[in-house]
Amino acid sequence: MSPQKIILGLVGAAALVLGAVLAVTLTQGAPRGPQTAATTSTGEAAIGGAFTLTDQDGDTFTEADLEGRPSLIYFGYTYCPDVCPFSLQTMKAAIEQLPERQQDRIRPVFITVDPARDTVEAVSQYVQSEAFPKGLVGLTGTEEQVEQAKEAYKVYSARAETEGSMADYLVDHTSMIYFMDEQGRFVNAFSHGESPETIAAELARWFKANS
Ligand code: NI
Repeated sequence: MSPQKIILGLVGAAALVLGAVLAVTLTQGAPRGPQTAATTSTGEAAIGGAFTLTDQDGDTFTEADLEGRPSLIYFGYTYCPDVCPFSLQTMKAAIEQLPERQQDRIRPVFITVDPARDTVEAVSQYVQSEAFPKGLVGLTGTEEQVEQAKEAYKVYSARAETEGSMADYLVDHTSMIYFMDEQGRFVNAFSHGESPETIAAELARWFKANS
C-alpha cells in the first residue's frame, strides 16, 4: 500500500468515526414532536384529563361532556364561606362582559372537593344561586371520583383544623379558574383574585382566534 493510500484510508476512517459521532448527537438532540411542544408551554398543558362525576341532575358527567363548548372550571365546596362564592361571582362577571352569543357558548362548571357534604342535592341547590354564572354545572361524586378529578387538574384540598363541631369544618383548597377549549383541552388558568376584565379579555381573545 502506498503512503498516499494509507493517508486516504486514515482520513476515510476518521470521517466515518466523525459521521457516527454526529449521527448519535443528532439523534439525541432531535426534537421529539409533540413532547417538545408540551415542555415549552411550562407544563401547564398537563392540566385536565379523565374523570367521572355526577351532575346536579344525578347524571354521569365525564371529561367527554366538556366537548362541544369551551368551559370554565372551578373546584370548591358549597360550605365555603367566602373564597368559592367570590370566585364564582368573578366567573359570572367575566362571562357577562362577553357578547351574548359568546356568553351562551361558555359552560361554567363547579366541581366539589368536599363530596362528604356536597351531595347531588346540595350541589343542585348551590348552582342555582343568582350570584353564580347562569347554567352553572355542579359536579360531585365518591371520594375516589373527586380525587381523580382533582389529580387531573392538579388541585389540592385538605380539611382544615377547626375548633367548632366536626360538621362545621372548612376545606383549604386551590382557587383557580381553568379555561378549557371546546375539545376539553387546557387553554389557561386564572389565579384567585384575577379580575373579571382580565378573564373576559382572555376569553374574547380565544373566541376571536377560534371563530
Ligand atoms: Ni372555597
